[in-house]
Amino acid sequence: MQVLETIAQLRNWVAAKKEAAQTIGFVPTMGALHDGHLTLAKAAKAENDVAIMSVFVNPTQFGPHEDFDAYPRDLARDVALATSVGVDAVFAPSVAEMYPHDGGIRIHAGRQATILCGASRPGHFDGVLQVVSKLFHLVEPTKAYFGQKDAQQVAIIQTMVRDFNFPIELGIMPIVREEDGLAKSSRNMYLTEAERAQAPHIYAALQLARDVLQNTHDAAAAVSAARTHIEAHTSGRIDYIEVLSYPDLAAVDATTTDVLIAAAVYIGSTRLIDNIFVSNGGQ
Ligand code: PAF
Repeated sequence: MQVLETIAQLRNWVAAKKEAAQTIGFVPTMGALHDGHLTLAKAAKAENDVAIMSVFVNPTQFGPHEDFDAYPRDLARDVALATSVGVDAVFAPSVAEMYPHDGGIRIHAGRQATILCGASRPGHFDGVLQVVSKLFHLVEPTKAYFGQKDAQQVAIIQTMVRDFNFPIELGIMPIVREEDGLAKSSRNMYLTEAERAQAPHIYAALQLARDVLQNTHDAAAAVSAARTHIEAHTSGRIDYIEVLSYPDLAAVDATTTDVLIAAAVYIGSTRLIDNIFVSNGGQ
């Protein structure tokens, strides 16, 4: 396992792999690794000659009042976990290494970023695309891996790869859940014991919404059922629960085949997201 801290070190590592005609599987992360990340890393290793992970808490995707400073950081732990699943290198740059120039060019994420998480986190997806595009240029991966838990992020990155012609395949892996259904997330560690007990109701509400949608073909009824469940079983504050087409993230209609039901709920001060897919079931 190699830990690469500079762009020069990363470029040397990539050049050697390209020289040897090796395929590169890439897992971008912000660290605080959990089983979801490790599932991505295992797939990257299994499907490519070498696997590399980035660990970088990207400041440009956090809003001014978000948890950038508090975001959990433990590189030694992350490197040990990445090593345990066969990752060959970890790229862990400083903020100054990634963003040495102020006021540089930004990517505008477009319509898909104006809704769901984008509505309450303005500029978030512009920051995600900024760092992901930089990482794609630096790592030149054959295939890059993302978790379906961040369904909106996945949809927007798919659009960037398509529109900017990145010669990169995307591997999208299913959500990894705790035994009680809570989607694994680095932010789960912020939850108190009482909040942790409430958190699985987000997934329960999404399952209920899926059942209502399949039975009634009524998106509003599905959202209403999920809202009622969350309000009855948690003290959380709903940011959104929405039924949308996927991956374009538009209103569903009779022609929609792939439906995303997505939710963001504040449990205490922790904002948790989750989603569920309904194929051919929405309408
Ligand atoms: O999903 C994440 O952890 C981040 O948004 C990503 C893709 C690593 C970019 O910082």
